Amino acid sequence: MPLKGKKIVLCVTGSIAAYKAVYLLRGLMKAGAEVQVLMTEAAKEFVTPLTFSTLSGKPVLSDFFARSSGSWNSHVDLGRWADLFLVAPATASTIGKMANGLCDNLVTTSYISAKCTAMVAPAMDLDMFEHPAMQENLRKLKSFGNIIIEPASGELASGLIGKGRMEEPESILKTIEQFFSKI
Ligand SMILES: Cc1cc2nc3c(=O)[nH]c(=O)nc-3n(C[C@H](O)[C@H](O)[C@H](O)COP(=O)(O)O)c2cc1C
Repeated sequence: MPLKGKKIVLCVTGSIAAYKAVYLLRGLMKAGAEVQVLMTEAAKEFVTPLTFSTLSGKPVLSDFFARSSGSWNSHVDLGRWADLFLVAPATASTIGKMANGLCDNLVTTSYISAKCTAMVAPAMDLDMFEHPAMQENLRKLKSFGNIIIEPASGELASGLIGKGRMEEPESILKTIEQFFSKI
C-alpha cells in the first residue's frame, strides 16, 4: 500500500476526461490513500457525485454551504487536511482561475488555501492547450511550485489529433507514488 495514510484532495472539473478520474480514484484507494473528492458544477454534468462518493467512502463536496441546514464546508480545513491537492482533470477554466487567484467555487478556494503541493493534470483540446493564455497560466502554476502532469498526445474527444488528452490514470498514480516516495 504505497499511499497508506496519505490524504489526497481529488478535484474533478468539467472535462470529458472526468470519467478517467473514476479510475484514478480507484487506484488511489487501492494504494491506501484517504481521498476527499471535490467537484465543480460542470464536472457533475459528466460523472455523477454518487460514483465518486461510493468509491471514496466520503460524500463529494461541491458547495460552500448547504442552504437547507446552514452547514458549510471549510475550504481552509480542506486545504490544511490534504497531503496532496490533485486536480484531474483540470479544465482550461479552472487552470485559469488557479493561476490568477480566482476563488468562485470550492475547488479554487480550497486550492488557494492548501498548504501542500498541488498537482494539475490538464485535459482539453489541442488548440485550447496551445493558446498563449493557457501556456502562460501553466507557467504561473509551475512558478507557484505546482506540479503539472503534462497531457498526452493522441486522439481527442473532438476527433482532432494532438496534445491535450489527460494523462492516463495509471501514469498519474505512478507520478503520485514517486512524489510521496521522495518526501
Ligand atoms: C462535451 C464537453 C466537453 C468538454 N471538455 C472540456 C475539456 O476537456 N477541457 C476543458 O477545458 N473544457 C471542456 N469543456 C468546457 C468546460 O466544461 C467549461 O469551460 C466549464 O465552464 C468548465 O468549468 P469548471 O472548470 O468549473 O469545471 C467541455 C464542454 C463540453 C460541453
